[in-house]
Amino acid sequence: MRIRRTLSPTAAPLRPADLWRGLKGFFAGEKYLRRLKEEITGYFGVRHAWFTSSGKAALYVILRALRSLEPDRTEVLIPAYTCFSVPSAIVRAGLEVALCDIDASSLDLNGTLLGKSVNEKTLCVVPDHLFGIPSAMGSIVDLCRDRGVFVLEDAAQAMGGRCDGRFLGTIGDVGLFSLGRGKPVACGSGGIIITASDVIAGAIEREFSSLPFPGRATQAGEYLKAAAMSLFIHPLLYSLPAALPFLHLGQTVFDSRFPVMRFSSMQAGLCMTWRRRLEAAMSVRKRQAAMLCRMLDAARIAGDVSSAGYLRLPFMTESRERRQRVCRTAKKLGLGITTMYPSPVNEIPQIAHRFAGSTFPAARLVADRLITLPLHRYVRDGDREEMARLLKPVRSIGVRSGVLSVDMTVPGMTGKERV
Ligand SMILES: Cc1ncc(COP(=O)(O)O)c(C=O)c1O
Repeated sequence: MRIRRTLSPTAAPLRPADLWRGLKGFFAGEKYLRRLKEEITGYFGVRHAWFTSSGKAALYVILRALRSLEPDRTEVLIPAYTCFSVPSAIVRAGLEVALCDIDASSLDLNGTLLGKSVNEKTLCVVPDHLFGIPSAMGSIVDLCRDRGVFVLEDAAQAMGGRCDGRFLGTIGDVGLFSLGRGKPVACGSGGIIITASDVIAGAIEREFSSLPFPGRATQAGEYLKAAAMSLFIHPLLYSLPAALPFLHLGQTVFDSRFPVMRFSSMQAGLCMTWRRRLEAAMSVRKRQAAMLCRMLDAARIAGDVSSAGYLRLPFMTESRERRQRVCRTAKKLGLGITTMYPSPVNEIPQIAHRFAGSTFPAARLVADRLITLPLHRYVRDGDREEMARLLKPVRSIGVRSGVLSVDMTVPGMTGKERV
């Protein structure tokens, strides 16, 4: 193994002072949790918040709560291209995954298809603000209100981002954030549920009150993982964990047996400086995104880069083969460029049988061609220049709604389509 400077795809490391607060959190009882709850509800302007062991666990708790309010509705409508944790939580909650294809240029739910996909079985729609790019919340909320369907806003990747001045996660009926690896405020693991609705809050509280606190051994394990992540995320050390396949870094897996627990006071200690970390990381990412968009010679910067709050910069290559070549070279150069989810949700082996005969061409296309570029504070001028050199030849011709789009012909469509 060659140790060389290697960028991670995302990085929001904890400082030694954060780790110290985590240690103190072991002995803080519920004091740290109460303080965190006050801060989160105050900052996001919501009445209710809960803290769970992960974003998946938050999703699971919300889904169970919504189901208890609408027991005859059993389907959860999600984008056909999203993190595999989303269908994992739906299956764990005993509900059915329903899919809506995406718009490949915005990575958001396809608005036209969404209108046709919501039916009397739909419990909720889950917009996901992928990479921090705001979903079209206005039209999604309007559609769902008309049909009596909940909007569960999955802001796992978008904490701190805004849409029309409102924080992502607060626009739907109920929202969640993730504090897991690679997220805007990474604290090892953790999830946050927020809602302004007293009715939904009552249902969530009933689910939440039966959740166990993690034991001391689990907390110690989480603490060590968070400390190791903060150390090894540094570019001079990242090639070490990146070379260990059993760590599954950057891999997304479908697993419906994940633990569902509360957040511990140790985790609350690690999180104590969340607001400063969130705001500092967002401003770095915005700057990096703006510079990269200019260097990549995109026709223009997508929408308002400063409001998109990208977690990583999504970039469409012109073909799967081209993407493989780019990723191979980027890996040798240690540029932190990665692919994302390996397939659309309908092709996840454990649940593929439910979608036999259905196709989701835009999700398939994105799964084949998307790469993401790192935007964190370890990315230097020279790294961006290398990225630009590597990606310049990719035929990017325009930008729309947050993702660089390319001219391409989609199987099943005729002529040159913009997808
Ligand atoms: C869109 C989305 N939802 C939910 C989750 C689950 O969050 P966690 O990893 O904290 O379980 C993730 C995690 O990557 C995600 O990207």
